[in-house]
Amino acid sequence: MARASTSRTPSSRPALGGPARTRRNSERLRQRLDELVAHGDAGERLPSERELASDFGVARMTVRTALGRLERRGLIRRLQGAGTYIAEPRLAQPPLLTSFTEDMRARGIEPGSQMLGQRLEPADERVAKHLGLAVGDQVVVIERVRTGDGVAIAVERAHLPAGRFPGLEAVDVVEGSLYDVLAVEYGCHLRACSQRITAEAADAHAASLLGVPEASPLLRIERITRDVDGDPVEDVSSIYRGDRYELHTEHLRSPDA
Ligand code: GLP
Repeated sequence: MARASTSRTPSSRPALGGPARTRRNSERLRQRLDELVAHGDAGERLPSERELASDFGVARMTVRTALGRLERRGLIRRLQGAGTYIAEPRLAQPPLLTSFTEDMRARGIEPGSQMLGQRLEPADERVAKHLGLAVGDQVVVIERVRTGDGVAIAVERAHLPAGRFPGLEAVDVVEGSLYDVLAVEYGCHLRACSQRITAEAADAHAASLLGVPEASPLLRIERITRDVDGDPVEDVSSIYRGDRYELHTEHLRSPDA
C-alpha cells in the first residue's frame, strides 16, 4: 500500500524558541496533514504518530489532536493498531432531484439494495399529512438498505399512496430503481422535493444495518417528493452514513435584499 511522506523543503524562516516554535511546528504539521489528505489517494497510509511527532518536533498529543480534527471531518480513518489512512471521499447528492441509483451511477458506482420490507400499511397521521391522504388510507412501505459497490450507504423507508400505485407492494425494487418503476410502470414523473436534514448518532440497529460503529454520525434526510402536477408521491425517511455522504444545496438571494 502506498505511503505518504512528510518530507518537504526545509523552512527558511529564522529559528524560534519556546512556545512560538511549538505553535509554528504544530501549524506546519496541520498544514502538511491537510496537504497529504487533499492530494493523497483513498486508502493511502499516513506516517505514524511517532514519525509525525519526531519529523515536526511536536508532542505525540499534538499529533493526536491534529489527526482527531481530520478524523472528525471524515477525512481520515484511524484503525486501532493498524495505522491511519486517507478516507474514501464522500458521495455527493447534487442540488437536483435524483434517485439513489442515478447518484451512484453518476459516480461510476454500482447501486444496489437489500430489501428489509415491502408491504401495505395504513397511513399514520404524519404520513397521511405528508401524502395528502386520510389517516388509515393504505400506503406502500418500501424499506431498503442502499448500497454502493456492495457497501451499505443508507437505509431508506419510503411511503407511497397505494391507491395511486396499485400493486407496487409486489414490484421488484431490489434490482432496479423505484423512480424508474414510477415512471415506466405508472407514468408518474417527478418534479420536485423538499428535504429536512438533521444529524444523529447511529443506534445499535442503524449501526448494524450500515456496518458502522454505534454512535457514528448519520444524516437523517426526510423527503417529500412531488410529481409534475405538484401532488405528493413519496414520503421518505432515510439515514445516510455521515462519513460517506454529503449534500450540496444552492440558494438564491432574494431580489429584495
Ligand atoms: C433517493 C431518495 C429517495 C428515493 C430514492 C429512489 O435515495 N432520497 O427519496 O426513494 O432515491 O431511489 P431509486 O430510484 O434508486 O430506487
